[in-house]
Amino acid sequence: MQKNILIIGACGQIGTELTFTLRAKYGNEIVIASDIREGNEALMDSGPFELLDATDYDALEEIVAYWEIDEVYLMAAMLSATAEKFPMRAWNLNMNSLFNVLNLAKEKKISKIFWPSSIAVFGPNTPQENTPQNTIMEPSTVYGISKQSGERWCEYYHNKYGVDVRSIRYPGLISWKTMPGGGTTDYAVEIYHKAISDEAYTCFLNANTSLPMMFMDDAIRATLELMQNDSEKIKVRSSYNLAAMSFTPEEIAKSIKEHIPKFVISYEPDFRQAIADSWPNSINDSSAQKDWNWKAEFNLESTTQEMLKNLK
Ligand code: SER
Repeated sequence: MQKNILIIGACGQIGTELTFTLRAKYGNEIVIASDIREGNEALMDSGPFELLDATDYDALEEIVAYWEIDEVYLMAAMLSATAEKFPMRAWNLNMNSLFNVLNLAKEKKISKIFWPSSIAVFGPNTPQENTPQNTIMEPSTVYGISKQSGERWCEYYHNKYGVDVRSIRYPGLISWKTMPGGGTTDYAVEIYHKAISDEAYTCFLNANTSLPMMFMDDAIRATLELMQNDSEKIKVRSSYNLAAMSFTPEEIAKSIKEHIPKFVISYEPDFRQAIADSWPNSINDSSAQKDWNWKAEFNLESTTQEMLKNLK
């Protein structure tokens, strides 16, 4: 039997690049992209696409049956800043989409799931430096609460029903192909777009707010490496800490100024400052290193080079 892959939320920041990468690897027709709305032209032209509301179990089940889907990447979610504005909508989307996919696997209609978690699972009482895999969490945002609950359910479905679900706590993700939307770490993408169009950037976080970040190529590679590994190697069935770099708005501005000396940044922190303050400054990802040999490649300097080169 042919094993097809479904990507839910394929038009988002991560979904777009995941779709391209999986299609390049397995073939365009094997990878079915889906989202609640259509994506950019390049994505829509690259292979099969289905309109799908991830909270609609019947619609999802129908697509899985029709395309003979075996593996699902559930990338649809409402991110941290937007979720603070629409708490119930965020909870509904983030949790019900996950239950739908977990239940498909429990019913043996699919055999493998990837579901992203986030550094947002941590909270103000978490040790902020080199945050361990297992520690105090107590997230204080709607998004973080949904991701932590999701992690608990993933582990539960794995232990109780043998569901092969795998997950990564992504740091803030920096990419040039598709804009992020509604996140607290989005500033680290917006800033490059402003810099490249010779505009000043007003940052919604303080100059010295340190957050864990990662270049998208590393995030996609990590996702594929996690999914390709033997099931026995995947010891953590809640979600893996993953790290690449940490920097502040001041530091990213400095790395941009090395290429664009006249670039100007100013700071006007808004409600997202409190969200950022509740998250770790840096992450310990030794479990991912040990279990599936994870190692990041991009640091701030190489990320800045890639961003400026590709946005030009
Ligand atoms: N990048 C996300 C956000 O800022 C965190 O997972 O909401």
